[in-house]
Amino acid sequence: MPDEVRREPLGRMICGEALVLFRREDGSIVALQDQCPHRKYALSKGRVEGSEIVCLYHGLKFNGEGRCTFIPGQDRIPDTLKARVYPTVEKFGWVWIWMGDAGSADESRIPDFSLNLAPGWKSVWGYLKIEGDYRIVLDNFLDLTHIGYVHAATIGNAPAAAVPMNVEPGEDYVRFTRFMVDVPPPPTFLKAVAFTGNIDRSQKARFLPPSNFQNDIRAVPTGTNDDARGLRFVVNNSLTPETENSTHYFWAIPRNYRIDDDATGDVIRSENARAFEEDKAVIEIQQKMMEIETPRTPIIPIKADAAALAMRRVLERLERLEAGHAQPQSDTPRRND
Ligand code: FES
Ligand SMILES: [Fe+2]
Repeated sequence: MPDEVRREPLGRMICGEALVLFRREDGSIVALQDQCPHRKYALSKGRVEGSEIVCLYHGLKFNGEGRCTFIPGQDRIPDTLKARVYPTVEKFGWVWIWMGDAGSADESRIPDFSLNLAPGWKSVWGYLKIEGDYRIVLDNFLDLTHIGYVHAATIGNAPAAAVPMNVEPGEDYVRFTRFMVDVPPPPTFLKAVAFTGNIDRSQKARFLPPSNFQNDIRAVPTGTNDDARGLRFVVNNSLTPETENSTHYFWAIPRNYRIDDDATGDVIRSENARAFEEDKAVIEIQQKMMEIETPRTPIIPIKADAAALAMRRVLERLERLEAGHAQPQSDTPRRND
């Protein structure tokens, strides 16, 4: 989140690599490997001076390009005293970091989360750390039948579990829709809008690799198709693996109704945050159960797993592509059309 990155150094592990982030004097973000090139002390324990960071073990100073600019008591600075730099960009209200080869960073490949900051929309934001493989978090996003059980106290109820998802798998995306007609509103929806009877509810969801998910949620009094008496918000989720078994979960929820009503924003934020804690509790137990099962047996898919399985196929294809065994596709949809 942009407000986490300040002038003081922030240490964060991403994809098993330790990074330090801070802001230069002009506000731009620097991301360096956190191991000081001298003796590997954490630069995140250091001090930012101007637009540079001082390692507080022996006082070496590094600029935003990772180059050492100062060694106490030594004039000659070896070229090898250099920390790896990770390209970063602030976009859609989040900080994006490219973990691959710096020369191949491509901002245009960031998925379109423009609704986060779009005119006519108002977003609430959150962050959650989950002790689980990011792929089982994605599995959770892509099978929304779980809302009837995991989220019975918030965004789900039993009728929500039984309605099938219409899945459209693509080479580089997975979309699905669900239409729940004439169903009782779940607790969160009753808090967000004072529905007096059943509702028609829809979920239009999309997975974009490697770890992004968007779910456009709408609910109106049943049979009315009247947005003025309903709600609509879009759950934008972007996962950043911390390690193989833990995940940084960033979420934003833009809404286009009652955007000037802070009380509505508070309900959307607190209820969804609660729902995501419900997911976290399940996923962390699932992760533990998977770790202690030896030998690990495969999962047994059911009909509701279609979108999650399609997502896994996209990831596997991209892994093969990265390893040089598959052709790239040119039809990757990046926009939320
Ligand atoms: S370890 Fe950083 S200055 Fe020595
Ligand atoms: Fe969930």
